[in-house]
Amino acid sequence: MEQRGNFTSKIGVVLATVGSAVGLGNVWRFPTEVGNNGGAAFILIYLACVLFIGVPVMVSEFVIGRSTHANTITAYRRLAPGTWWRVGGIQGVFVSFLIFCYYIVVAGWTLHYTVASFLNQLSADKDYTAYFQNFVRSPWEPVVYAILFILMVHVIIVRGVEHGIEKFSKLMMPLLLLIIGVLMVCSFSMSGFSEGIAFLLNPDFSKVTASVVLSAVGQAFYSLSLAMGCLCTYASYFSSDTNLVKTALSVSLIDTCVAVLCGFIIFPAVFSVPGVEADAGPGLVFITLPHVFNTAFHNVPLIGYLFSLLFYVLLMLAALTSAISLHEPITAYLHEEWHLSRKRAAWIVTSGCMLLGVVCSLSMGVWNDFRIGGLCMFDLFDFVSAKIILPLGGILICSFVGWKLNRQLVYDEVTNRGSLRVRLFGVYIFLVRWVAPLAIAVIFYNELFRK
Ligand code: TRP
Repeated sequence: MEQRGNFTSKIGVVLATVGSAVGLGNVWRFPTEVGNNGGAAFILIYLACVLFIGVPVMVSEFVIGRSTHANTITAYRRLAPGTWWRVGGIQGVFVSFLIFCYYIVVAGWTLHYTVASFLNQLSADKDYTAYFQNFVRSPWEPVVYAILFILMVHVIIVRGVEHGIEKFSKLMMPLLLLIIGVLMVCSFSMSGFSEGIAFLLNPDFSKVTASVVLSAVGQAFYSLSLAMGCLCTYASYFSSDTNLVKTALSVSLIDTCVAVLCGFIIFPAVFSVPGVEADAGPGLVFITLPHVFNTAFHNVPLIGYLFSLLFYVLLMLAALTSAISLHEPITAYLHEEWHLSRKRAAWIVTSGCMLLGVVCSLSMGVWNDFRIGGLCMFDLFDFVSAKIILPLGGILICSFVGWKLNRQLVYDEVTNRGSLRVRLFGVYIFLVRWVAPLAIAVIFYNELFRK
């Protein structure tokens, strides 16, 4: 068999996986959820979800990927030949595709906002809501940006695992952290700093309801790229001495820190402008923030300009490394199972996603009337993938590793054939068998049937 690509260094493993995890989920979705769900209390619950559900599920995905060194579909087939468990692999690849198709639409918006801030188009005091809506509903602008964005992803993917994904992540992730650092310093100096920090650090437990807990679990899954074949595929490129538990813990820790730091950047900024609400909803990043950048630095427009530019570059780079991880599971599958060259496999995925991505993008504007079940295509893709298939996939992965896989195999993987001491193995198995699947089942039920 042809030599498979591999990550070549420990730091490459961590940065590539962090690249997948850190994305729009951290910079865009997390602050929005925090704003909507009452601030600090949400963050505490989120941390518990990451630790008790996110990390065990991530280790499980790593076990599946690394033990087989194969794409997700082949991995399930090898571990449980001739059984229905293969559905787990199929759903992973399929949902990566669905998520990718609408992820690149929002990613395209970030690219547009980067260009617009660079050209200083966001600075004149304008109606940012109208600006955003006009852009998103335009029949060609968002489409062009989405296509450009996919092409960027494509260029990195065709270069392969080591020279594409690993190299790019090693370059971009440190840059991303640096940008976060610079933005933090800026936000320290803003007038709303103490108010913003208080919002993030003083928990108000009276705001905690069942739906807040459920949002936290959902956010943890989304932000850690779980249940979708991404991490399983990445783990298939890990070497046999990669410490799976340590990697999962580091990735989750970094991902969570980035999310919280983004909160530290965004909320002081938001509180610096009177009259702007912290719970501004999904428009927070595209409507509220340009307004904030513009108003808060009224006296020193240059800083406002740089703040805004750096922020959108951050958002775009984060989206780019995550988009790569959504492209890779499908490309790897086509490459290995259909015996296509990597380049051809990548082209098939890229073209397919372009087609559906364009449909998703247009469904926000000219094709908004075309609806299935009351949802436009963009919302439908989001709903079916994130709300239906993702939780089911999570339950499947946990049950597969917790109940179906041979315990010795799991133990060998987690401890690198006995060479690592993993003291909490029993706890891990307990979480994977009981806690995670039950918790996910509860979210699933609530999301779908209670609303
Ligand atoms: N985790 C990424 C983010 O925070 C998005 C993402 C990438 C993702 N791959 C995924 C979400 C797989 C769910 C499943 O933006």
